[in-house]
Amino acid sequence: MGGVMSLRLAVLGSGSGSNCQSIFNAIADGRLDAEVVIVLSDHEDAYILERARQHGVRAEYMDCGGFKNKFPLEVQEALAKKLQELHIDLICLAGFMRLVKAPLLEAFPRRILNIHPALLPAFPGVEAWTQALNAGAKQAGCTVHYVDAGMDTGEILMQAYVPVLPDDTPQTLHARIQVQEHILYPAAILSAISRL
Ligand code: GRF
Repeated sequence: MGGVMSLRLAVLGSGSGSNCQSIFNAIADGRLDAEVVIVLSDHEDAYILERARQHGVRAEYMDCGGFKNKFPLEVQEALAKKLQELHIDLICLAGFMRLVKAPLLEAFPRRILNIHPALLPAFPGVEAWTQALNAGAKQAGCTVHYVDAGMDTGEILMQAYVPVLPDDTPQTLHARIQVQEHILYPAAILSAISRL
C-alpha cells in the first residue's frame, strides 16, 4: 500500500503464542502497520509455531542444545545474523523463556521488546501473577519494555493495570492479565515503531 514498506517484525516465543496471535490480529484489522516475517521458538512443538504456519508465516525451531533455560551464545549469534539478513526492524519476545544477551542486543539495540505479566519493576521472573497474588497486591497488570541483559529489567514502554479480586486464583488472575496483554502489546509495538 502506498509504496511505503511496513515494519518487519520477528516474534520469539516458547508457548501458546496468544500474544503473537494478538499481533497477527492487530495487523489483520489495520491497527498495526507491520509484517511478521518470522516466528521462532525454542520448543519444536510450541503452539506459537502452529499459529504462525496457519497465518502463512515462516515458523522455525531453534535448537538450544537440550539446555532448559540457557540461550547458547552461538545460537544467539546465528539468530542475530539470520534476523539481520531478513531485514528485521523489531524483535518481539512473546512468552520467550530464555535471556537474550550481547549477540542479539548488540545487533538490535533498542529494537527488542518483551511483554511481562506484572507491573514492573515489581515481580520480575516466572509466574509473576502468582508472585503478585502471594504478595497480597491489590493491583496486577502487564508491562511492555525494551529488553536489556537483565531479567525483565529494561526501560518500560507501556503498562496496563488489572484489579486483583478477592477470590482470584493464579489461573483467573493470569487470564485477566492476558486480556490486557493482547491489547497492550500491539499498541506498544506501534509506539516503539514511532520511536525508531
Ligand atoms: C504471557 O503472560 C507473557 O506476559 C509472558 O508469557 C506469557 C506468554 O503467553 N511473558 P502466550 O504464549 O503469548 O500465550
